[in-house]
Amino acid sequence: MQGKVAVSGAKNAALPLLAATLLAPGTYTLHNVPDLRDTRTMLKLLQILGASWERDGSTVQVNSVNLTGAEAPYELVKTMRASVLVLGPLLGRVGYARVSLPGGCAIGARPIDYHLNGFQQLGVVSSLEGGYVEARVQGELTGGKVWFDIPSVTATENLLMAAVKAKGETIIQNAAKEPEVGNLIDMLTAMGAEIKGKGTDFLTVTGVKELHPATISIIPDRIEAGTYLIAAGAAGGSLEVTDCDPSHLTALIEKLRAAGMQIEVYADRCIASRSVDGTPLRAVDITTMPYPGFPTDLQAQFMALMLCCNGVSIIHETIFENRFMHVAELRRLGAEIVIDGGSAVVTGIPRERLIGAPVMATDLRASASLVVAGLAASGTTEISRIYHLERGYEKMAEKLRQTGAAVEQVAD
Ligand code: UD1
Repeated sequence: MQGKVAVSGAKNAALPLLAATLLAPGTYTLHNVPDLRDTRTMLKLLQILGASWERDGSTVQVNSVNLTGAEAPYELVKTMRASVLVLGPLLGRVGYARVSLPGGCAIGARPIDYHLNGFQQLGVVSSLEGGYVEARVQGELTGGKVWFDIPSVTATENLLMAAVKAKGETIIQNAAKEPEVGNLIDMLTAMGAEIKGKGTDFLTVTGVKELHPATISIIPDRIEAGTYLIAAGAAGGSLEVTDCDPSHLTALIEKLRAAGMQIEVYADRCIASRSVDGTPLRAVDITTMPYPGFPTDLQAQFMALMLCCNGVSIIHETIFENRFMHVAELRRLGAEIVIDGGSAVVTGIPRERLIGAPVMATDLRASASLVVAGLAASGTTEISRIYHLERGYEKMAEKLRQTGAAVEQVAD
């Protein structure tokens, strides 16, 4: 691998920020919005609710003056769980929302009880009927105290979007500290909201009566950036990952260095290199944790990097109970992985024993891990069901080809 890849805007920031355009009527401008299957789904949902939008390159303008609905239909929610992010803004603006309850997904049960319990503290009553959650503000939205068992990213975002319009003060304890939550706080603040505690797990929101539209840029996608840094380790050579924020990637960079990669860090780019002389990387253990810990969204890709390491790497997944779907596919290339509850034990094999094969993508990040493994393996790896990949990676094949990687996207 040789050359540069530019990172797109963060999917997981674009989704809540697009949902936030529902909060106050008007025209919003969002820069650096990635064009992905998931962002298109969110735009479709905004349209169903009555908003209109226009895209010009990576800039999206949303007009939310006329809302005509308050329902997120099953057809959309089943393809993207993050559709539940319209709950908070709809409660904040019209006091009512009807959203299909997301079912389980490939990586686990993923309930939304934290969202609903949190809304209850703000005076919202919700019920389940026909697979839909109906949430309605009783009287008026009123500030309250919310505490999460585990910091949840979208629950924190949903609560913030309702609390900014609630009467009085809302405190969110054990809030998620992910940079994407920070990006949403910046947008809500630009809209006139009063939020203290950005970047911490203790957020204080003082509700305001009126909010107004804003212009905001989506932060770079740290998971996309991290995937390319890992890919450089798998393929060898030197890769410059530009348009990223390395300060959001500390956990990964530390682990890549511990494995023996060289990572040069600058303000908005990283250069990752691994010699191509055949010296294997060292085995490194990881444990997924909420930010700033090692992200669960990079666990599968990191595992793929460890397939040919020197030694045994133990990968603990603590966020989602079923996030090892990629293991069975990686084994098809020759990988030696044993799953023990929430841990995967990877015994590194010599690179020549990792051989390309047809594999199937099961979820978004699992697909990325198959690409990483395919880059490390000899021969051809054919990945089917890549629509999963298109949910979160903008032009991945094209970006990788620019670095000399032999990756081609054919009709799936
Ligand atoms: C977000 C990200 C996703 C990432 C995940 C964890 C978006 C759009 N998606 O998902 O890419 O993998 O954070 O970093 O930002 N939980 C409950 N009840 C709830 C909510 C969460 O039990 O109501 C549990 C989950 O099952 C999980 C943990 O809390 O075990 C954290 O999940 P959460 O942060 O909510 O994930 P998402 O916000 O869905």
